[in-house]
Amino acid sequence: PEYKIHYIEQTGSTQQVAMQLLADGADTNTVVVAGTQTSGRGRLGRVWQSEKYTTVSMSMIIKPTITLQHAPKLTLVAAVAVARALSKYADVSIKWPNDILINGKKVCGILTELQADPDRIKAVIIGIGINVNNAVFDESLEDRATSLAQEAKQSIPRVNVIERVLTEWTQMYALFESDGFTVLKPLWEAYATSIGATIRVRSEQETLVCTLLGITDDGYLRVQREGGEETLIISGDIDLVSS
Ligand code: BTN
Repeated sequence: PEYKIHYIEQTGSTQQVAMQLLADGADTNTVVVAGTQTSGRGRLGRVWQSEKYTTVSMSMIIKPTITLQHAPKLTLVAAVAVARALSKYADVSIKWPNDILINGKKVCGILTELQADPDRIKAVIIGIGINVNNAVFDESLEDRATSLAQEAKQSIPRVNVIERVLTEWTQMYALFESDGFTVLKPLWEAYATSIGATIRVRSEQETLVCTLLGITDDGYLRVQREGGEETLIISGDIDLVSS
């Protein structure tokens, strides 16, 4: 498809700009790219820091023909696409649902926001934030964050990264549309390095220590509790429990 790209030098959040474009009637495949963001949004109400001139901040408007029930899969499709795009620069892994890590540190976060009727998705805004050329991080992030440049030991033009992400997204989304998530699931699982490991899951209801088994065809996390019982997690956050 043709992407319609809106470039903005500086904005609060590209998610916000994309919402506004959507309200003004933007088409599917409209993409907002910002030079820098001043109040980037993360998952679960967190903030996302975007450093001037070094990070990629982009939001894609997609109008998929799927029902609400299938929405979580889209975010995993995006994670596979970004993982493939970034794997040119370093060995990447995916932390469920869609953080991209290099050497265990976060290099990219993805935030998917929906506009839906009770039964139908009107639009999905997939926000992607990638640390590309960041040389330093705030003390609070230092141990947990990294950039492509830090890992690849060379600076990387942001436009190349954006191009690769859009190319991979196009391919992965086409696969998803033609064959469904079943073909994407093994790709996602191949990047998810902590399968079989002991993890801590924090969801709205509880915190649980369990073994990561994989994901379901719906994109939910499959874990095994200590007693051996299998549980599905729909949303939340996971961490590796170091032994
Ligand atoms: C997360 O890991 O919590 C998700 C972070 C998502 C950040 C991106 S940057 C582009 C888009 N605009 C935002 O305000 N957030 C997303």
